Amino acid sequence: MYRDFLLRFAFASMSTFDKLSLPGEEIQALGRRALDFIAAYYDGLASRPVVRHASPSTLRELFEESLPQTGSDFQSLMDGVTRIAEFSRHNGHPRMFGYVTSPGTPICALGSLIESALNINVTSWRSGPAATELEHVTVNWLKEMLGYPAEAAGILVSGGSLANLAALTVARNAKAGVDVTRGGVAEVGRAMCLYVSEEGHFSIRKAARLLGIGAANVRAIKTTRRLAIDRDALDRAVRADEAAGRLPFCVVANAGSAATGAFDPIGELAEFAHSRNLWLHVDAAYGGFACLAPETRPLFEHIGEADSVTLDPHKWLYLPVGCGCVLYRDPAAARSAFADDAEYTRAIGVEAEESFAFWDYGPELSRPFRALNLWLLIKYVGALHLGAAIARNLACAARLEELVTAADDFELLCPRGLSIICFRYRPQGFTGDVNTLNERILVSLQREGDSYVSNALVGEAFALRACVLNHRTRFDDMEILLEDIRRAGGSAT
Ligand SMILES: Cc1ncc(COP(=O)(O)O)c(C=O)c1O
Repeated sequence: MYRDFLLRFAFASMSTFDKLSLPGEEIQALGRRALDFIAAYYDGLASRPVVRHASPSTLRELFEESLPQTGSDFQSLMDGVTRIAEFSRHNGHPRMFGYVTSPGTPICALGSLIESALNINVTSWRSGPAATELEHVTVNWLKEMLGYPAEAAGILVSGGSLANLAALTVARNAKAGVDVTRGGVAEVGRAMCLYVSEEGHFSIRKAARLLGIGAANVRAIKTTRRLAIDRDALDRAVRADEAAGRLPFCVVANAGSAATGAFDPIGELAEFAHSRNLWLHVDAAYGGFACLAPETRPLFEHIGEADSVTLDPHKWLYLPVGCGCVLYRDPAAARSAFADDAEYTRAIGVEAEESFAFWDYGPELSRPFRALNLWLLIKYVGALHLGAAIARNLACAARLEELVTAADDFELLCPRGLSIICFRYRPQGFTGDVNTLNERILVSLQREGDSYVSNALVGEAFALRACVLNHRTRFDDMEILLEDIRRAGGSAT
């Protein structure tokens, strides 16, 4: 019964107006309204709060409804979109300093529209010939920015966590001494150990868990006062594992840690790792694009010696969420970890280059056209202008560091790492618990929404953590942030 009804309904809707397949004029009419929304959104960004607080139950009430059986008109959907925006955190706001958050750009908002219209599944050359070439071109640009060898392989992935997972898969397989792809990690016969400083991102530990290495075999190496990995402690940890019959296989260097922006000495770590037959992976998810700013460029001098690198265009290259990148110095090592095939993916009657497949270099089969936004942004803006915006972010962070250092009611908790400042409010004469005070300030700031920071621990100290990653941020915003904190601190004491 229901099946007959559905079929009658299905064919009737095809002969009238099928909302799944709109005519051009209608697309333009709806598109104009969507574009009006996007333009007004960007124009009004700075005058909104970063976030408007509402409880989960309020939002549930606002959005919950039973499964819509018939469609709605577009205007009511746009009303819904307006409500969604109203109760979202606006990562493009000039005073959004929390986490490692890309502000996005209008050019990529347009790109996402086009990407969805083209709907290319970038599994391989034959699924998307131009999209595949564009991904090669844009990944080559990223290598060029960074100074990574041109012969290296690289693909775009969903983000830094996936890039770290992919790189560590290749590292594990290359250093296991047995064919892990066939027999699994059990065949190694001893624990494989990975070394990263205490500043390392949790996605490294998570990758180790997923890869059968085990979180307990990730050695969190202590850091120096500047929060870089302690080389002597690293050396001792590797020797201790070797002496105990375990298999050290990989060192991960931070090129800008998530909490404090800490940067490890890549050249020294490459020398250390390679002299002991260890893989060197550089997690540059946050800090990688600092290579475009003259002030921080020298930090990347030895990046070409790393065996693999994680980059996140959806952080400091301002792309919208969903674009990370992994680079492998030895393409064959990547292929031997990932290449697999099946009859349904076999390329028939094509030239060698046409059989190129991204699934030989990473875990995904279906993949969105991530390179489109990357290509649009870099071509539209240019690497020089991007470098200038990144340099401005660094200058704003340096300004905040100066302001904090000069103020007698603020305390800098560690030196600035790239564009990250960790500090706390400590008014003179305050005798209460400083950690509790700053936790209260954080909650109040995040709820008030004029400025937004996140938190970190520096030693035992609870830090207000500001990461300047937004091309819209100006010097004034740093002063406003401190005033907002003082105001929140005033009501929290
Ligand atoms: C240093 C570092 N590595 C890895 C990641 C994970 O990246 P993603 O959030 O893109 O998975 C982050 C995220 O902030 C990071 O800062």
